[in-house]
Amino acid sequence: TVPVLTIDGPSGSGKGTISRLVAEQLGWRLLDSGALYRAVGYAAGAAGLDLSDVEAVTRCAQSTRIRFQPSADGHDTRVLVNGHDATDELRTETAGAAASAIASIPSVRQALVDMQLGFRKAPGLVADGRDMGTVIFPDAAHKVFLTASAAERAKRRYKQLKEKGLSVTLSGLQREIEARDARDASRAVAPLKPAADAVLVDTTGMPIADVVAKVFAVVRP
Ligand code: CDP
Repeated sequence: TVPVLTIDGPSGSGKGTISRLVAEQLGWRLLDSGALYRAVGYAAGAAGLDLSDVEAVTRCAQSTRIRFQPSADGHDTRVLVNGHDATDELRTETAGAAASAIASIPSVRQALVDMQLGFRKAPGLVADGRDMGTVIFPDAAHKVFLTASAAERAKRRYKQLKEKGLSVTLSGLQREIEARDARDASRAVAPLKPAADAVLVDTTGMPIADVVAKVFAVVRP
């Protein structure tokens, strides 16, 4: 069977960056499952749907066409939603909030299962998300759960948003992150928690290269 490395963790734990770098090093494919939830939230918004309308949003999740495509220069991945390049829109806070809202609907999560399983192709897959090791690939050979203190994750997010020229406060961000953690961990469907057989890596104060090395060592000890 095709080997899978799952990398789960909360917002700001560095999953996205680490997953991309480890996938590159291994020469494995990458599944950014958060982008799927973002794409559905975006498509629902673009269609003018009420995000709390479970039936309409579920139909939207079932019918939205999502494709990942290397950018022209090969350095980036573009996300096409129903044929439209929505990469930039998907990165916004609005898209994150919409993703988080629709991700709590069980039938929406169900609609995205087969698509996620389809990413498992030779020579291997790095799957980035919140329930990769617990729900989607419970049989994965390698599982990592990345954490970092709320203060550290707030600091990373602060830096990202500042670079975008947005005005935010560090203490406000930390409060938001703590509230989102509590919500994600307590939601009824796919609550954020490490798989029983996941290796926990606390990335607080750790340079990216060190985290990559640690995760790499889980796959190639
Ligand atoms: O950067 P951040 O971790 O906030 O965002 P993301 O990984 O792109 O995920 C966006 C939202 O989708 C999260 O807030 C989760 O609620 C949801 N999500 C999920 O429920 N399950 C996944 N496997 C991935 C994302």
